[in-house]
Amino acid sequence: MGKLEKKVTLITGAGSGIGKATAKKFADEDAIVIVQDFDKESAEEVAGDLKGQGHLAIGGDVSNEEEMKHVFSEVADKYSSLDVLVNNAGISGGPEGLSSITYESFMRMLEVHIGGTFICTQAALPLMSEGGSIVNLSSIAGLAGWGPVHYASAKGAILGFTRSSARELGGLGIRINSVAPGVVETPMTEELDDSLLSPLVMMTPLGRIGQADEIASTILYLASDDSSFVTGQWISPNGGLITI
Ligand SMILES: NC(=O)c1ccc[n+]([C@@H]2O[C@H](COP(=O)([O-])OP(=O)(O)OC[C@H]3O[C@@H](n4cnc5c(N)ncnc54)[C@H](O)[C@@H]3O)[C@@H](O)[C@H]2O)c1
Repeated sequence: MGKLEKKVTLITGAGSGIGKATAKKFADEDAIVIVQDFDKESAEEVAGDLKGQGHLAIGGDVSNEEEMKHVFSEVADKYSSLDVLVNNAGISGGPEGLSSITYESFMRMLEVHIGGTFICTQAALPLMSEGGSIVNLSSIAGLAGWGPVHYASAKGAILGFTRSSARELGGLGIRINSVAPGVVETPMTEELDDSLLSPLVMMTPLGRIGQADEIASTILYLASDDSSFVTGQWISPNGGLITI
């Protein structure tokens, strides 16, 4: 029996990278996976390749409240309840610094990451009950300031959101935690300049960047009953780059 046997799980941004690896890991643990992504074609492709039955692909922009209401009402109609939500959808920041970044791109970063996390969590709650688990993707950018300022701000906000929500949701028996990965090999990072990556790898005790499947394993731990006494926390799979 898998660790997520018959659990209805929804992963945002699951058409690629960490979300895609998490969808696969969850399905391998016998979950029913709702693969949500802005790019519906990728979501359909991922859902079609998963082990088991009953999976679903849904499109939509996590930062659009109306679209997400529609997504969660489709989930309610089809499954009646939701056991696990992974707020994973994200966009990367360009190399701009504080002096050149536009207000518009700063706000877009907040909208997708923390806005999307808020919208999806709020929309998911009526479907969740005792034993439910929410996992939010932060980053070492949010923990320690690595990465551009808009991205770091958005990822830092997710840590505060998680801590505060844990206090509120504990009484309902719903856990909520963050995963704050270091640099991981995904389409998001494939364009990162080697001059940025090489020093990072040199400073990383394990001497390499992470793989999406390794982050999915951390997400699985937080989603499953293996972490039944863990809430309001963050875990940072980062190869030892940051140790706090
Ligand atoms: N790759 C890394 O090094 C790394 C490190 C730390 C944290 N993260 C975080 O992990 C998460 C996944 O990143 P990844 O590396 O797999 O990226 P990725 O680019 O491979 O995948 C992100 C997915 O999110 C989807 N998406 C983007 N905006 C969306 C929106 N508004 N609504 C719905 N879907 C949307 C994209 O279509 C894409 O499929 C992100 O939140 C990212 O910030 C990544």
